[in-house]
Order: sequence, then C-alpha cells, then structure tokens
Amino acid sequence: MISKTTIDQVYEIARLEEVIGDFVQLKKSGSNFKGLSPFTDERTPSFMVSPVKQIWKDFSSGKGGNVVAFLMEHEHFTYPEAIKYLAKKYNIEIEETEQTNEQKEQANERESMYLVSEYAQKYFEDILWDSEPGKAIGLTYFKERGFSNETIKKFGLGYALDEWEAFTKAALENSYQLEFLEKTGLTIVKEQPGGESRKFDRFKGRVLFPIHSMSGRVLGFGGRILTSDKKAAKYLNSPESEIYHKSKVLYGIYFAKQAIAKEDNCYLVEGYTDVIQFYQRGVQNVVASSGTALTPEQIRLVNRLTKNITVLFDGDAAGLRASLRGIDLILEQGMNVKVCSFPEGEDPDSFAKNNTYEDLVLYLEENAKDFIQFKTSLLAEEAANDPIKRADTVRDIVNSISKIPDRIKKEIYIQECAKMMQISEEVLYNTLAQIDKKGFTEATKKQKQEQKAFEVVKNERPVEKVDVQYVLERKIIEMLLLYGNQKQEFEDLVLKENEEGDLVLEPEIVEAKVYEKVYLDLQEDEIELTNEQFRTIYYKLIEDLNESENFTVNTFLSNLSQEMVSEVSSILMEEERYVLHDWERKDIYPKEKGLGVAQLVGETILTLRCNLIKNRIKKLQKSTEENNSDNSEVLEEIVNYLQLNKLLNAKLNRVLS
Ligand code: CTP
Ligand code: MN
Repeated sequence: MISKTTIDQVYEIARLEEVIGDFVQLKKSGSNFKGLSPFTDERTPSFMVSPVKQIWKDFSSGKGGNVVAFLMEHEHFTYPEAIKYLAKKYNIEIEETEQTNEQKEQANERESMYLVSEYAQKYFEDILWDSEPGKAIGLTYFKERGFSNETIKKFGLGYALDEWEAFTKAALENSYQLEFLEKTGLTIVKEQPGGESRKFDRFKGRVLFPIHSMSGRVLGFGGRILTSDKKAAKYLNSPESEIYHKSKVLYGIYFAKQAIAKEDNCYLVEGYTDVIQFYQRGVQNVVASSGTALTPEQIRLVNRLTKNITVLFDGDAAGLRASLRGIDLILEQGMNVKVCSFPEGEDPDSFAKNNTYEDLVLYLEENAKDFIQFKTSLLAEEAANDPIKRADTVRDIVNSISKIPDRIKKEIYIQECAKMMQISEEVLYNTLAQIDKKGFTEATKKQKQEQKAFEVVKNERPVEKVDVQYVLERKIIEMLLLYGNQKQEFEDLVLKENEEGDLVLEPEIVEAKVYEKVYLDLQEDEIELTNEQFRTIYYKLIEDLNESENFTVNTFLSNLSQEMVSEVSSILMEEERYVLHDWERKDIYPKEKGLGVAQLVGETILTLRCNLIKNRIKKLQKSTEENNSDNSEVLEEIVNYLQLNKLLNAKLNRVLS
C-alpha cells in the first residue's frame, strides 16, 4: 500500500498540464489548454485541460477528471499504478510497506502481468550483460549490428538463454505466478497426457526487444532468432494479451514521443532494428509498426504528437503496395503524409548504419516525396504504356485524394495530379465527385442502418425530456464546488400572513456562506437530491466545507472515488464547454452571465422548490382521483401549494427580470 502522505504529495506536486502534455499536444487557449481528444478520432480539438482547476474534460467522449483519472483512462493504469507513475515523474519517494508474497498474489491481473513483464525485461537484460552466453552470443550479436552499449541499454535489449525453462524457473523462484507468465506468453505451458504439465520459455535462445507503452511500461517482447534456421520464424513476438494489443502499439513510441512533438514529424519504419539504428544515428522521431499493417489506432498515437508522418520503405518493392493502403488510412485521419524509399537493397537500418547523421538527414530531406508524387511515379512506372492501367492508376490516386478531409488540400492535390499524369483537372474533379458520391451513398446507407438500430432502442425506452430536476441538482453541486465557502448576502423569503389574512413572502437580508444557505434551505424544505450520485457528492461537499476553512476543489477531488471525480469534473468543466462552443452558451444559459453568486444561489433554490411543489401537487391530484372518499383536506393542501407556487414564481420572475 502507498501511504496517504505520498498520495497527498503526489496530488500537490503533479501538474496536470505537464502530465497530459506527455501524451497530447496541448495548445494554450485562454486560461486553458486545448488539444485533440486522445480517446476519439476527432480532427477539431475538444479536449480541454484547466491548469487552474487541475481537471480535464474530453467533450467528444464525455470523459473527464483529475490527473489520476487521466492516467487511468489513457494508460489503463490502476489507481496505485497512476500514483506510482506520477511519483516517478516528479521524483517523489514512495512510502510503502514492502509487498509480501501474499500481497503479490493479490495484486490484480493486469498489474501482475505488467509486473511479470517488467521482471522479465530486467532478467533478460541481466542475462545479456552478466552471463557468459549472454555476452558471447547476445551482446556480440548486437555489437555486430552496430549498436553501442548506450543504445542497447537505452532500449533495454536482452537475451534469453538457450535453455528450456531457465527464465520460467527464475520467475517462479521470485514468487511470480505461472498464471501470469502464461498469460503474458513468456512461458508456454503444455499439458502432458500423464497429467504433469511441461513449461517452456517462449523466447529461448533469442535476443529480445522489449516493447514499451507510450508511458514506458513493458507490454511485451519481440525476439529475434540468431541462427539462420529457415524453418523457425525470424521474429517471435509476445502474443496478444490483456496488456499487449499489437494494433494499438508502435515500437519505439516511448523513446520517440518528445522528438516527434519537437520535430513536428514522425518517421514510420517497419522493424525494431530500423528504429534503433535511426535513434542511435541521432534521428529520434522514429517508430515502427512492427511488420504488421498500420492501424487507425496506431496512427492516432502519432496524431496526438504531430500532424506529419513520413513513411520509410525498404529498397525492395515487395510489400510496397500493401503499405500504400496504410497511406490512405493516414490521409483519412487528416494527417500529412510523405513517403521516402531507400536505394535498392537498403533498408532504414542499413542506411542509417552506413551513413553519417548529416548524410541521413540530407537523404531524407531530398528524397521524401509527397504521397501523391510518390504514388504517381510508382504507379506510372508500372503503367507506362498501358492505357487501361494508366486509368486505374489515376483512379487509385484520386481515391487517395478523396480521403483528405481538408477541401483546400484536396484541390491542390488534384491540380498536382493533373500535371503529373497529364490529365485535365476537370476529368479528375469528375472522378473525385464520383468517388465522393459513392462514399456518400455508402455513408448514408450506414447511417440509415444505424438509425434503424437506434429506433428499436428508442421504442423500448421512453424518449427522455430535459430533466429539470437533474439540471437543478447539478447546478447545486456546481455552486457548492465553485462558491461553497463564499460569504454572501442573501435575500431570504419569509412566509408571512398579512393583515388581510393572505400569505405573502417577505424578503429579509441574511448573511451566510453559500453552503450554509443551500444546506439550510434544502433541509427546511426536506429536499433530498434525487440523483444518487449527486446526493453522495452533496453530503461529502457539505461535510468538507463545514469541516475546513480552506476547502479546495483539488483536495476534495483527491478524496473521491474515480467515478465521482469524473462526474465532478464534468460539472466543473461545463463552463469551459461554453467557451468551446460559444453559441451554446447563448442558447442554453442566457441569463447566467453576470448573475451575482447570491442571486444565482437564490434562484436555483427557488426553482428547485417550485419544481418540488409542482411534483407534490401532481401527486396530491392523483391521490384525489384514485380516492373517492372525503378529499377536502387534500384539496385544501393543494390550494395552499398552488398559492405558494404562485408566490414563488412571482418572486422568481422578479429575480429573473
Ligand atoms: N516481423 C515479425 N515477425 C517476423 C518477421 C518480421 O514480427 N517473422 C516484424 C518485426 O517487428 C520486424 C519487422 O517485422 O522488425 C520487419 O521485418 P524485417 O524487415 O524482416 O526485419 P528487420 O527488422 O529488418 O530485422 P533484421 O534486420 O534483424 O533482419
Ligand atoms: Mn533489417
């Protein structure tokens, strides 16, 4: 367990905008920061970070919270993982009781898988540097490839002994459980007919490339064979698991992320060794798709850091066509793509190894072509004297252009393509229109299907109207969070009977703190918030405000469950939303701007009362309908309520006018 002192210290020192800045490119926007949502595929930023409030809100996915909530959402950390991550980032020493073997067992599954992967990484690294076979075989291999000691250490490379269960044994002796060794794929367990199961080290006899998450945790490994055994795969990788999703990981992203943001460009290569060789040469903004086809999730990882990708191809043309498809995917995400191929027989690895930094950079500068030039020259070569192929090529290129979301860019590319393929722009625009139309028809078809699916759902549940009660209760929470401790002069309404015997509301000025006013008023009317989550937050808020003079939203948040943190953040960020979409503010809360705190509080409570009375009246009326006996008492009550309601409404109108 991490001590409370450590947790408090972490909350105190961690800066949300810095932490998020490691994952999302943030731009200053007023007093906030703005960026692309890391949780959805958006192209216009709706992800807001408030350095003042130390909370974030993603308006496209609805997620939000404090610094810990961000790490839990984004990195899928558990709570303690998030705290540890922050402590490490800010050099805060973690006060913790040492984990016993029993506690190790209790740690949850994912955490256990992370821990066992971390252990494995260290183990294989130690073997590489400290064991005889490690030095003689593994280290020698890496040296032959031209990797320096520093590089090998930086990437945490390792070696697995050529023995059946050397690693598994060591891990078990250190109290790591077989279950997680198997789940991460580090150990392969084979059931024997006799009942005894046999265990094998997956990576036996291979050099290892640990694969890190964006935040630097070990997710899995790529293991390269050292013999030229044609039957065995050159690379063996960790299997898909709860912590390792191939399609969402880019090799090298942890080491490259800062350089990518700084250079505002990302080089995309195919292999582990390409990344390492580039990095060692000084070009550090480089990641690899690890031999698989690029996925939208992988592109999104980069999209958060830069808008520009340069795809690097090996000298041979094999696999080139498949990679061209990856380009369309990148274009679809609104990113700029350049392509660069290497001389025949060279790949990024060999080229970086055999050239100086200056030559490498120069080569990349001179040979990186815009995707359209690249595609045109490549396809045109193939289609040189074949008119039918030429037509296909043109269509292929226009198809790529159609993926670009930006209209101006689209036009520029059409013009360029026309020049390069010697075809009139008009024809190209027509082709583009055809493709767009087809895409459009497909999209509407899909939309209609979705609508149908939605209608089924809709019929099952009644359409929800704007829930006034919900809005008001939310408002109460917001007021407490923002102004809870403020002293204000309230105009209290006291119900009195005048000389004619009529009920009137008389104003009286009372000085009180906002939370006292809210609490007492609600208590007086026996109003309980109906929304369960709001109710919990409400009582916690009242308690905290009552207990401490220096209530701050930050300390309040740090003591809430993550679920509630998210709720509270979205309430707090609501105002930022109106900064994002100013028109919405005008439409929805036209009166709020400039309204004094006391007035806001008074109005909200009054409205809540009115709403409550309306509901009571409804209930009473219903009971008279169901009940045929003497209703006079109930009727009198209704009349009283109606009268009160009228008074309150009159008062509200005065407040509002
Ligand atoms: N790859 C893989 N499994 C294979 C072959 C390749 O996972 N059987 C992935 C690896 O991530 C590898 C990348 O595809 O890094 C590129 O493959 P390749 O070009 O064959 O490997 P290199 O990285 O060039 O490896 P090396 O230079 O060590 O031969
Ligand atoms: Mn290679």
